[in-house]
Amino acid sequence: MTTEGKGTKEGFLTIADAMKQGTGAVAVRGWVYRERGSAAVKFVVLRDGTDILQCVIKKDAVGEEKFAEADKLQVEASLEVHGTIKEDKRAPSGYEVAVESFTVVGTSDQFPITKDQSPEFLLDKRHLWLRSRKMQAILKIRATMFHAFREYFDGRGFLEYHSPMFQATQCEGGSSLFAVKYFDAVTYLAQTWQLYAEPAIFSYEKLYTIAPSFRAEKSKTSRHLTEYWHAEMEYAWADFKGIQDHGEGVIKHMVAAVLERHRKELEILGRDPKKLEPSVSKPFPRMTYTDALKILKEQCKMHVEWGKDLRTIEEDKLSQLYDTPIIVTEYPTAVKAFYMKAVDGHPEVVQGCDFIAPEGYGEIIGGSARETDLEVLKRRLLDAGEKLEGYDYYFDTRRYGSVPHGGFGLGMERVVSWVCGLDSIKDAIPFPRTPLRWTP
Ligand code: 4AD
Ligand code: MG
Repeated sequence: MTTEGKGTKEGFLTIADAMKQGTGAVAVRGWVYRERGSAAVKFVVLRDGTDILQCVIKKDAVGEEKFAEADKLQVEASLEVHGTIKEDKRAPSGYEVAVESFTVVGTSDQFPITKDQSPEFLLDKRHLWLRSRKMQAILKIRATMFHAFREYFDGRGFLEYHSPMFQATQCEGGSSLFAVKYFDAVTYLAQTWQLYAEPAIFSYEKLYTIAPSFRAEKSKTSRHLTEYWHAEMEYAWADFKGIQDHGEGVIKHMVAAVLERHRKELEILGRDPKKLEPSVSKPFPRMTYTDALKILKEQCKMHVEWGKDLRTIEEDKLSQLYDTPIIVTEYPTAVKAFYMKAVDGHPEVVQGCDFIAPEGYGEIIGGSARETDLEVLKRRLLDAGEKLEGYDYYFDTRRYGSVPHGGFGLGMERVVSWVCGLDSIKDAIPFPRTPLRWTP
């Protein structure tokens, strides 16, 4: 694709730049998004990485032979076009090119995706469906959100750091581990970077990553993938409030970046930006798990027994009461991971937090202060039915200069789904992996 504002050495402009130019001679190239024609004129809506643009090919202008070629053009053929651009309110993007000459670069014969196809068909043809305006808009927003996550932490003295993807132990529960044959041994795909980030905070103190995580969860829901992009942070000397503040800060930064740069993409997706604005301008309500149970009872008539984890339906009900994400803290120790630090004087609850997105998009962040007491860690692993084997390297983090620390993990596709207002998390990633789908 051509760089915006510059054009290529052959003189091609992006469609966005050609429309910015607005009048006069232009050269653009891309793919046929739509086409229709009559005996003397062919309308081709051309698509590139930036926008769409109507091109009008008249027999009079290009001659009999070339017009016959234009007449055969089908959806998704690629072509280069030279002509004159002008504003035209009736054209799909408000501009039109009167074509003087064109070259078909790659033909296309009966592109398989036509109107009204089922979500499953579109997933089978995902490699082609990526070309749709919907997927293109999502991919652009997704990229901005990755960038914004990095920008937030780079700007605050954090270092990007990477954990291995082959890991010998669990962190988030053995039942969702993917086992991998590793020569003659068995190892697992990373569920999180956490147990490899904690050792490194003793080196650099403030770390973040964006990397794939893998969960062998059989749940076929609109918010679970088996492979997702996990944006995580971990830092030394952390306190529980600071962890929540960073979670809130980075989400605000990511949403603000999308609102600033992607009005057009949100419009293509039919997503009302007003739904997102409160998440930038208003503080996220913070409540303990115990408070959340009270609110559920009083405002939603839902009774949850103290000690039970919040289920999807309860999270959804709760989220509908607010127009920003909410932060639920101090969950019962028994329902949370072994590494979460108990609240001082209250071993029954942990300094752990879940951020729950509005509009029923579910948990977008899970984080905590980390238990520093080695004996407590060991006991909690055993209580969770895990063996201590393989964790010795991790236990060393508590043996040599242990410090308070903590962090969180943010599910990129969960946040992209919410920001884009998607029906399914599958559309938040180019090639989704779920229990039933691992191709193409
Ligand atoms: O709550 P989780 O399991 O927390 C951890 O993995 C911690 N070790 C993170 C940390 O403290 N460094 O996962 C974190 C987030 C969830 O809040 C959710 O947004 C996302 O990861 N997530 C998933 N996203 C898509 N598909 C799945 N199957 C997911 N499982 C978790
Ligand atoms: Mg969680």
